[in-house]
Amino acid sequence: MLKKITTVASVVLLSALTACGSGGGAETGSTGGTITMGFAQVGAESGWRTANTKSIQDEAKTAGIDLKFSDAQQKQENQIKAIRSYIQQKVSVIAFSPVVETGWDTVLLEAKRANIPVILTDRSIDSDDTSLYKTFLGSDFVEEGRKAGDWLVANASGPTNVVELQGTTGAAPAIDRKKGFEEKIASKPDIKVVASQTGDFTRSGGKQVMEAFLKSQPKIDVVYAHNDDMGLGAIEAIKAAGKVPGKDIKIITVDAVKDGMQALANGEINFIVECNPLLGKQLMELAKKVVAGEQVPERVVTEEGTFTQEQAKTVLPQRQY
Ligand code: AHR
Repeated sequence: MLKKITTVASVVLLSALTACGSGGGAETGSTGGTITMGFAQVGAESGWRTANTKSIQDEAKTAGIDLKFSDAQQKQENQIKAIRSYIQQKVSVIAFSPVVETGWDTVLLEAKRANIPVILTDRSIDSDDTSLYKTFLGSDFVEEGRKAGDWLVANASGPTNVVELQGTTGAAPAIDRKKGFEEKIASKPDIKVVASQTGDFTRSGGKQVMEAFLKSQPKIDVVYAHNDDMGLGAIEAIKAAGKVPGKDIKIITVDAVKDGMQALANGEINFIVECNPLLGKQLMELAKKVVAGEQVPERVVTEEGTFTQEQAKTVLPQRQY
């Protein structure tokens, strides 16, 4: 059973953290003409990703940046191929959202040797060599997991069995959202994660895994889904099993895209932690600076809030994505 929610309304704010950046001389492609950006996107796995892609494409146009865009369909090898092709094309700057955290050093070293600056956006990489990229623009995923955990700790009473729908295996948001959540629920031994599996950040993945959980787990009180899409898939599975999402089984998700917010306002999701996909404007600003050889912060964090059911009803009509 969960207690009533009282959470403060949150405002979307994008702010750059102050940090010493990697400046240096002007990079390849910066002299005079149009800036060309090669962008290697993760895929089209979720509503969040669709909004992120639109933001990047729209803001490139507005900034007068010539965007070369590729969709890796959630496969690291496709992203590596795209980055190599951007190096061959001698773009001014490469930006990408790494599908997984590890395995990037070789290709990023090739970009560095070709004197093409790299910007990480949305997701980061796990590498000791921070000279491989100029800056990382995106959310604090561990903090997002903590916010989800905090809500559950504040609202759970008595023994609470949680099933977790993880994002793509090896992806930064999957690793970090799990970590932050576990960190917070550790303070309440009554809360137990009884099953945890990847749904690959997709609606169909969330539905499939939830169907299996409903068969294998005798008692499920809460679903913690690493994104809205998997939570929406879980809702379908819960309804098909004759239970009421948001009541019989509480649902916590991350993202706050329109479909998720609608489900929250309808009472089928109980709490959403925000992850803002509108990174395009800041990315283009950073790209211009990096290409001009100007100083940029080494980390730019997206500040985000959380939404209760009541807050979702209020903000839904103005929601952009
Ligand atoms: O990296 C951001 C995550 O990727 C979003 O939370 C999820 O919806 C997307 O697939």
